Amino acid sequence: MAEVSVEIRDGLAWVTIDNPPVNAIGRAVRQGLLETVEQLRDSAVRAVVLTGAGRAFVAGADIRELGQTPLAPVLPEVLAAIAGSPVPWVAALGGLTLGGGLELAMACHARIALPGAKLGLPEVNLGIIPGSGGTVRLPRLVPMATAVKLATSGKPISAQEALEAGLIDRLASGDLMAEASAMAQDLAKRGGLLSALDRDLVAGEAIDWDAQAAQLRKRSRGAAAPLEALAALKSAAQEPVDVALAGERARFLRLAASDEAAALRHVFFAERAAGQSLKQADAEPADLSRVGVIGGGTMGAGIATALLLAGSQVRLIERDTAAAEMARTRVAETIAASVKRGAIAAEKGDRALAGLSTDTDYASLTDCALVIEAVFEDMAVKREVFARLDAVMPAEAILATNTSYLDVNGLADTTKDPARILGLHFFSPAHVMKLLEVVRGEATGARALATGGALAKLLGKIPVVAGVCDGFIGNRIMAAYRRDCEFMLEEGALPQEIDAAMEAFGFAMGIYAVQDMSGLDIAWAQRKAHASHRDPSERYAHIADRLCEAGRLGRKTGKGWYDYASGKAGIDPEVTRIIEKESARAGRTRKAFTADEIMARILATLQREGQAVLDEGIAETPADIDVVMITGYGFPRHRGGPMYMARSTV
Ligand code: NAI
Repeated sequence: MAEVSVEIRDGLAWVTIDNPPVNAIGRAVRQGLLETVEQLRDSAVRAVVLTGAGRAFVAGADIRELGQTPLAPVLPEVLAAIAGSPVPWVAALGGLTLGGGLELAMACHARIALPGAKLGLPEVNLGIIPGSGGTVRLPRLVPMATAVKLATSGKPISAQEALEAGLIDRLASGDLMAEASAMAQDLAKRGGLLSALDRDLVAGEAIDWDAQAAQLRKRSRGAAAPLEALAALKSAAQEPVDVALAGERARFLRLAASDEAAALRHVFFAERAAGQSLKQADAEPADLSRVGVIGGGTMGAGIATALLLAGSQVRLIERDTAAAEMARTRVAETIAASVKRGAIAAEKGDRALAGLSTDTDYASLTDCALVIEAVFEDMAVKREVFARLDAVMPAEAILATNTSYLDVNGLADTTKDPARILGLHFFSPAHVMKLLEVVRGEATGARALATGGALAKLLGKIPVVAGVCDGFIGNRIMAAYRRDCEFMLEEGALPQEIDAAMEAFGFAMGIYAVQDMSGLDIAWAQRKAHASHRDPSERYAHIADRLCEAGRLGRKTGKGWYDYASGKAGIDPEVTRIIEKESARAGRTRKAFTADEIMARILATLQREGQAVLDEGIAETPADIDVVMITGYGFPRHRGGPMYMARSTV
């Protein structure tokens, strides 16, 4: 079997899983492993070293098989055979050891990992839980608190953390295979093999299961899998091994066939498919080792931070020296906060900041192959910036705008070669948010697009290609449903009811809490700018304008859709009065809305506008729209996105 090979040398068997790119466990791998156990049972080998070919050990189960009935031999059977082998199996781990891969490693009799290895149980991200004994073996190797964290968060840990927790027995200091072989020989000599299931639970502080469940329920926003993972661990803690194993398997099979898991698989593949057309662009991307950024406000500083942390040098241009200094401070503070949070090491932070230079003179940009503009959202200012760039930058440099709404095509005539212009729409905070809309103007060339793709890769972001329209994919759909929510206010709903319905559906925050957080003034300015060419017969709700006119611009002014006097969002009777007055003025009889009616309206609007975006060729695929709404606008991931829901409910 090509996926699993065995080499016998010096009385040891070297078993290698080779299923590129990440050695995912599909049927052939399971079959190969089972045959290997059988084959070795009757041989003279004293011990086995199990490893993965290439960079990963095993990054998980084959996701394509997950939605289907598992084919024999199933993984629990394979792992039981390995655990019950009369000779020791030692797992030698490098790169990724995730999901079914970690379950496999835990079924071996010992584990050794390279220092750079990552280990985790990301099953919950796919709407499932470990299904091959993972939740039963794990708390027999690590304290239950660690097991809970690993299985319910889905986040991997480093090899060092795995060593400290007891998940691996040793960290390789040099040659992984040589050290694994020494461990295997040693285990063979000692005899009395113990598999994880023969061990007691690791002693540690008692878990308050109810408190954990309550916390998790809040955090998982309606997703079932994290709570199921917790329940499986609780069973492992309280019930006999065979009962816990059977219970885990039943949960796994039920979840694998659930709507939630199907939705999460859709998102998994949608994220990987996003931006594929950028890779097909027939051009070499620009060199990203030095990148220029113009404007060092919220977005410019965030973009600079993202680039610096990815190892690029950044030349940041501001209007004057004072503003340049402020931009530097902003970047330094963001990096310092990441260090403080433990997100990055202090020395990485220092190295990143050392790559920043600030200036007011465009001449310092000329050695950059890409410049990203993030100045005020004002076409005249942006046009001036592009014209100045065109005058100094080498002909092959790519020029990008981070505009939220403005017409990227409207910048084309500021340069001699409009093929080099594109939109790169980041989301705030730019060094954290994973989404990058790569906006293709009418004249945008292949090299500019390839550069957008390469930039996303460098920054670890998900690129989604968008055409030009007011707000591209995300802000355009957002504007449409914001407008419809205001119509609902006018018809009888209240902001707190809409927010509660959205949160119950799984959004991180409701639309009004979000508006208060980011400020009501930008959208107000945009509405005022559009006022003169608005069709007077078109329905228009004035509620948000009234709030802004009353100085209620959101959290920054202490009041917006809510009152923040208490530090938290409080319901404000004044807002209710403004809304009721506007309903009366518009001649609407107010009626009550249920949470279901509110969500049905919101979803219908998202889907209608999404379809328009597709029909106009602004988005390349429905799945791209799902990715945008999930990664940029807080749409609950476990529901698969609005377009996915539209397709799966008809
Ligand atoms: P901001 O007001 O925080 O920053 C703009 C910065 O640009 C200021 O520091 C200003 O001094 C500088 N600037 C203005 N004119 C300049 C010029 N001619 N040369 C050099 N620097 C100049 O604005 P923010 O929020 O960072 O937005 C920047 C751009 O990013 C806008 O186009 C905005 O629509 C877009 N955007 C904003 C997002 C947000 O959440 N704030 C999200 C995505 C895009």
